[in-house]
Amino acid sequence: MESAVLRVENFSAFFGQNPVLREINLAIPENRITAIMGPSGCGKTTLIRCINRMHELTPDARVSGKISLNHEDIYATDPIVVRRQIGMVFQKPNPFPMMSIYDNVIAGYNLNGIRLSKDEKHTIVEESLRRAALWDEVKKSLHRRGTFLSGGQQQRLCIARALAMRPTVLLLDEPTSALDPKATSHIEELIVQLKDTVTIILVTHNISQAARVSDFTAFLYLGELVEFGPTEKMFTAPKNKRTEA
Ligand SMILES: Nc1ncnc2c1ncn2[C@@H]1O[C@H](COP(=O)(O)OP(=O)(O)OP(=O)(O)O)[C@@H](O)[C@H]1O
Ligand SMILES: [Mg+2]
Repeated sequence: MESAVLRVENFSAFFGQNPVLREINLAIPENRITAIMGPSGCGKTTLIRCINRMHELTPDARVSGKISLNHEDIYATDPIVVRRQIGMVFQKPNPFPMMSIYDNVIAGYNLNGIRLSKDEKHTIVEESLRRAALWDEVKKSLHRRGTFLSGGQQQRLCIARALAMRPTVLLLDEPTSALDPKATSHIEELIVQLKDTVTIILVTHNISQAARVSDFTAFLYLGELVEFGPTEKMFTAPKNKRTEA
């Protein structure tokens, strides 16, 4: 298997006494798309929230085990730095409603107190919107609010906002579940293009979406990793009865 950029080792997560992830071991291949699948409540969102240190923001939440990015233990790194290297996009598009498209893209820098020159800002805004396949649609209205955009465009704006931090890994939590089929296929194409420059972890309920875009699939069931492997193999010859079902 190709080289892993992110390693999850003997990792468990809890809400209070309640274990929601149990002893997960997973090596995420670099510049590939890994789909995380499994029934509702199995821990998909929790897993990716642990990968960018968001889980611990919930009171009473706890983790054990190790997650490393390029061999650096992310739980021994400043969480702000981790979230810069590991970006996240949520199910519902959530651009900052009072901000322009332009300010949305560079919001991560402002929130982190990172000062940029005007030129640097322009470069990052254009580069990120191009990478998110949104530039041509918004280049003439950069100073309008992001909320004027369609749902699919808003989600691409959120992807641009995450890409602006030039992350190593991008976490996508059911990014198309609130979108119509056309906007969905646009985002699926975009995800496939992005893997040349960023490692992608895609949580999806949608089996055909996983089959269309992902290289590897991890299947979770009741907080356990049941199966992990090349997507093609998983869909044609699952090893585990629960995956097959
Ligand atoms: N803030 C919380 N406090 C307590 N328990 C929680 C909290 N958030 C989630 N859980 C529980 O953790 C388990 C895993 O939830 P999680 O959201 O990770 O599942 P999921 O696989 O993403 O589900 P879905 O497909 O519905 O999005 C569930 O049993 C859920 O009830
Ligand atoms: Mg979820």
